[in-house]
Parts: sequence; structure tokens; C-alpha cells
Amino acid sequence: MITHSSYTVEPWALGESELRLDVLPQSESVFALSNGHIGWRGNLDEGEPHGLPGSYLNGVHELHPLPYAEAGYGYPESGQTAINVTNGKIIRLLVNDEPFDLRYGRLVSHKRVLDLRTGLLHRTCEWTSPAGCTVRVRSTRLVSFTQRSIAAVSYEVEAVDAEVRVVVQSELVANEQLPSVTGDPRVAATLESPLVPEEDFATGTRMRLVHRTDRSGLRVAVAADHVVEGPDGTGSSSESGPDVARLTVTSVLGPGERLRMEKTVSYGWSGVRSLPGVRDQVEAALAGARSTGWQGLVDDQREYLDAFWARADVEVEGDGETQQAVRFALFHVLQAGARAEQRAIPAKGMTGSGYDGHSFWDTEAFVLPLLTYTAPQAVSEALRWRQDTLPAARERAHQLGLRGAAFPWRTIDGSECSAYWPAGTAAFHVNADIADAVVRYVSATGDETFERETAVEILVETARLWSSLGHHDHHGRFHIDGVTGPDEYSAVMDDNTYTNLMAQSNLRAAVDVVERHPRQAAVFGVDDEESAAWRDAADAMSVPYNKELEVHEQHHGSTGHQVWDFAGTSPDQYPLMLHFPYFDLYRKQVVKQADLVLAMYLRGDYFDAEQKARNFAYYEALTVRDSSLSACVQAVMAAEVGHLRLAHDYLVEAARMDLEDLENNTRDGLHIASLAGTWMALVAGFGGMRHRGGTLAFTPRLPEKFSRLAFMLQIRGRCLRVEISAAETAYRLLEGEPLEIRHHGEQVTVTRDATERRGIPPLASRPAPQQPPGRSPVRHE
Ligand code: BGC
Repeated sequence: MITHSSYTVEPWALGESELRLDVLPQSESVFALSNGHIGWRGNLDEGEPHGLPGSYLNGVHELHPLPYAEAGYGYPESGQTAINVTNGKIIRLLVNDEPFDLRYGRLVSHKRVLDLRTGLLHRTCEWTSPAGCTVRVRSTRLVSFTQRSIAAVSYEVEAVDAEVRVVVQSELVANEQLPSVTGDPRVAATLESPLVPEEDFATGTRMRLVHRTDRSGLRVAVAADHVVEGPDGTGSSSESGPDVARLTVTSVLGPGERLRMEKTVSYGWSGVRSLPGVRDQVEAALAGARSTGWQGLVDDQREYLDAFWARADVEVEGDGETQQAVRFALFHVLQAGARAEQRAIPAKGMTGSGYDGHSFWDTEAFVLPLLTYTAPQAVSEALRWRQDTLPAARERAHQLGLRGAAFPWRTIDGSECSAYWPAGTAAFHVNADIADAVVRYVSATGDETFERETAVEILVETARLWSSLGHHDHHGRFHIDGVTGPDEYSAVMDDNTYTNLMAQSNLRAAVDVVERHPRQAAVFGVDDEESAAWRDAADAMSVPYNKELEVHEQHHGSTGHQVWDFAGTSPDQYPLMLHFPYFDLYRKQVVKQADLVLAMYLRGDYFDAEQKARNFAYYEALTVRDSSLSACVQAVMAAEVGHLRLAHDYLVEAARMDLEDLENNTRDGLHIASLAGTWMALVAGFGGMRHRGGTLAFTPRLPEKFSRLAFMLQIRGRCLRVEISAAETAYRLLEGEPLEIRHHGEQVTVTRDATERRGIPPLASRPAPQQPPGRSPVRHE
């Protein structure tokens, strides 16, 4: 674990007060800005030094063949990789005749601050060149939430104590050279020069580059314009070539004099529009942003975020690090999804190239729950993207000999591109996770249009998948065999409890929605016989249980497998998948990430309190958390079964995953699911929030470390505020009609007129569960 003392702990910002080249790649991820459409890593303005240059456009990817040593039927043939698109953030500086490069000369001071309230990344530094000239550089960067195609930089250079000649080069650079990747299989395969030049242009302060990808056939256009202010004698010129467009500004600055540049960049891409079409699109967006102006973009950003925080903020008293981390998490999750608009939300957002820019079940199971109650519009967009990809999912189901739709395990464009089918195609649970997100969204918003236009189709097609994937045995029990659950250290097993319980909900939700929308259901050819078969399958769903041990099995027979030799595994052999063959992991009891424990959270209605406690203890002893998707789920269930201190330790692990680079791969991008899991651990863990059957229920309980926890939830046009202290919970509606909720089982009507206060019942103590040796979370007193 690396602890970065250079990151400040403050409630509304993340700051860095020295430049540490050893953690530069990681800080590029944590300081990344995005709106879900454009992603700019926190690279330094001048482009170098860098860990990984990164400019991304959601959906822009290149295809490449997936090589197999041994081919097999149904293996996806084509891989997809998000590409580093044209870099619009570069502003290079020459001080007298030396490049402003922090690796040389003397960096007198350096500060970067990501302000979570304004959405701006500020940088100030003072640097003395090797020849002894000192300049001060200030820059502020934004990726606009309100103008989706726009990013902008305000850049200023000041001569400190003597006259200097400065040359500022603002550039658009395509096909940047990228550092070669490490041997970690999770790291993105980088593609060399993926952009084929189509057009370049520069005149006055304006410039533009248009490129296209070779195999995926996507056209990417980037345009920029500038406002320059400097002392008399400041001059500029511009030029362009196939992969670079440049505005060069020269000026002689006396001590205290400044040269200032506002750079507005507009991005657009399309798989169908013509070159003139895409060119005009970016020019139009640029014209719009120009008329708003830099200050207007800054003000709009603040207004957008004020509105977000007013309905989404989480306050944590007593634990400053977690307070900062949860706001950092909310900010980054918002950035990942806010303006994705019918595109996927990738596992790394747009903060890095990890996982090739793919989206997984992370989106529906981790990210969308947070957004459902804080920014629901983003959820309907994300799920409509899934609906748009139904043709590919139907085709995949057909190819696999199944009915309905089989959504991909990992993808950018909607088609499956996981080359490893045991932890890819076989992880069918992604379909139930999508269905679950659909049901949650409808239940939280009451969005009837969405229910009719999107929910019916997704629920019907996923229910069809389950009914064709499973079978009734001769006792009538319904089984889903040969699938992989969330835990990727077990694969192709029978009756994974998580999958079966989630499929059961999926089937039941399909029956309900078909009853509510018979006409729409008829469009998809659903008849009574089909929905009766879904009901039967759901009612007969088998859930494996070991009577002797009195625990639920993760999959049929799992508790009979040999337990992994934890004592014989050294700390540097984690994550296990990088040190042991999968075949060995698969045949032993060892759990990569919460699986049955996640089932107990999402299908808590199926288990009683005693079962939850026993199951939790059993799986704690087997779970190694080799995935960042685990700690937050363990936090939720640890809190539910009464291990509040352990829940807090897991919360901190999820919350500080990237701030402390706990998995040593934050350089490849942020762990968006774990960030979302921070919210989950607080709201569903210590708030005990569950939303089932249309009712919000809470079982709040704080860990010792917290003196207060407060959060807000958007629910059917209302805004509910929940404030928890050690002794009581206060519920208040900030907006909307009265709402029925449950507090530790008691029904409470919450209105705008009065705060409802309820006490917190005492907690039964249980023996602390054990984790595998060396895998306990770090204790945070
Ligand atoms: C986890 C998956 C997850 C993926 C992307 C893997 O390590 O096991 O559950 O979807 O990472 O975050």
C-alpha cells in the first residue's frame, strides 16, 4: 500500500502540494475530468512528463482480432479497445529558450486542487529554468457538464523577477506515443496510431483535426479556439499538419506581467455522419461555447454541481478521510455517468485505459444504484443504451442456442468481446443485474414511459434467456447449470445461488411488467403460457443449502470442495489469479469477491437474520478480495449482521481504493464500482437502506468512529434526508408528497412539515468473523 502524504485531506477538494513523479500515473487518474462523454486524464498541461496521456471519447474504440491458441464455437472474434483520441489539453511553454519541463531546473512550488464543488482542476506552480529564469504558471481546466462536447483550459504564465521571452504552444495532437503496457493481463492493450488523418485546419486562433479509425470506421473531430491576452508586442501564428494543429503565441513579459490564454476545445464523433457533418458538429459546439465564454462555462459548471450536491451530498462527521473520499467518489461517479447519454459507463469511467475501456456488470450492480437515487436521468440513459444493444444481445443468445437476449460480459459497442468465456460469457448473471437495475430505476422514479418503452423489452428478453438457460428436474425444481457467478475464482458451476436468486427476481419482474403492460408485451409476442412458465421457473428455483453446516452454498456442492491453502499462500501471491492457475482456483474453496454475500444484500428477503450471520461468517473465512468490487459489499453485510467496526474497515478500503492505490493499478484508471461502493457502504451499510417492493426501509446504525452520517435520496419526485447519530435517526422530506418508509421495521410517514425522529435499537453482539490469514482489512480505529 502506498500512502500519498502529498494528497490533502479536506472535505470538498483533493489537493496535492508537491509533484511526485513516482505517483504521476496515479494522480493523472485521480485528477481526471470527465462528463461521461469526454474524458481527460489529469496530465500536466505541457504534456510531459506523463505516466499515461489520456483523452477519451465515450464509445470511440478500435477493433482488433482476438487471438486464440485453440478456437472454439461461439468465441467472440473481435476485440474492442477504447483509444486515446486527439489530445486537446496540451499547452507547451518555452521560457527564453528552454522548454518548461519540471524534470529540469527547479520546481519552487507545485499545487493541484480538484475542487469537488466547482468541478475545476486548478494548478499553480513556480519554476526556475536551468538558466535561472523564474515563471509562475496557473491553469484551470474543466470538462463541461452543461455543454457535453466542450472542455476548456485557462492558462496563464507570469514572469516573476526578470524579463522573459515566453512562447506558448496550444496544440491538438493525434496519435500520441503511448508508453508500453505492463505484463498485467488487466491492462489495456494499447493500439499504435489508431487515428487515420482526414483533415487538418488552422487559421488565426482556430484549429481543427478530423481523423477516422480504420476498422471500427468511426470519425473523430476536434476543434479549438482561443482568447489570448498579453502585453503589447504579443503575437501569434497557427499551423496544422495531419496529426497536429498548433497556435503559437510569443510574448516578452516584464516582472509581474502575464500572458493569458483561454482554450476552448470541442469534441465530436460518429460512426455514420459524413466528414462535413462531424466537422460542422464540432464547429457548432465550439461556437456555442464561445458565446458562453470561459466565465460562463465556469459558472454553469458550479450551478450544475450545486444542484447535484443539494440532492446527493453525504455528510460524515468524525472521519475526515471518509468524508473526503465519499465526495470524491460521488464526484467521479457523476463524471462517469452524467452525460454518457445512451453510451456505456466503463469500469474505469473515462479516467484511464484499464480494461480496454470496457463496461461490465459493474455499471448496473454498483454504479447505477448510486445514480438511481442521486441523478436518475443518467440511469435511464444508461439503461436505454442497453436496450439499444438488444439486437447484438439477441444475436448472441441465438448463437449460444438460447432464447431472448444474452448481454455481453464486457463490451464497448454492445457485442461480446470477452475472450475468456469461463469468466465472460458464462457469467450470465449480468443479465439479471441489468434487469435488477431496470426494476430499481422504475421503482425509484415511477417513470412510466421508461417502463413501457424500455423496461418491458429488457425484462421480457432476459426472462426468456433464463427460462431457456435453466431446466426443471424430475422433481420440478428449476436449475441453472454451468454458469459463473460474481466470484471469478469459481467458474461454470451448477446453481450459483446469486445467479439463481437474481434470475428469480428477473423472472418475477417480467411476469409483473407483462401483466401491467399487456399490449406492449404482445408486441414482443409474450402470451399467457410463456409468462406462466416464467412464474413456474421462479417459484421452483433451486437454491443450494448445506444442512449440516447450516449455510447456503455459493453453488451446488461448493462447500464440499477442498479449502484453499491460505496458510501456505504468501502475501505477495495475491491477487491469486496472477500466481496460480485458474483450474486450481476453480476446484477449491476460495472466493475472489463477494458472491453469496452480495446475494444476501440484493436478495435479503430470501434469507433470515440467522442465516445471514452464519453465511457471512462462513464466506468471510474464504474471501480474499482480489477484486475491488468486494469490500463495499462486505461492508454492507457486515453492518447488517452487526459487525460495525469491520464494516467500517471495509468501507475505508472501498473508499480509499484509488486515493491509496490499494490494488496498485490506479494508474490505469479509477475503480468506479468501488467508488460507487463507498456510497453503497454508507447508505446501505450504516444507513441500512433497502428498497424492495416499492418501500424504502432503513436499519441505521453507526460505527463508533462516526458521530453523524447524513445522506439524501431522490425517490419518486421527493427528496428524503436521513440523518443518523448514535442515538437516533431523523427523517425529513425536503421536497414532495408524504412518504411511507420503515425504520427498523416500524412504519413511519415522513412529510415536509416535521422531522421524524426514531431511536436505534440495541445491537446483539456476535463473535467477530475471521478472514483468511493476512487478508483482513486494515483496522481503522
Ligand atoms: C471482477 C469483475 C469485474 C471486473 C471489472 C474483475 O476483476 O472480478 O467482477 O466486473 O473486474 O471491474
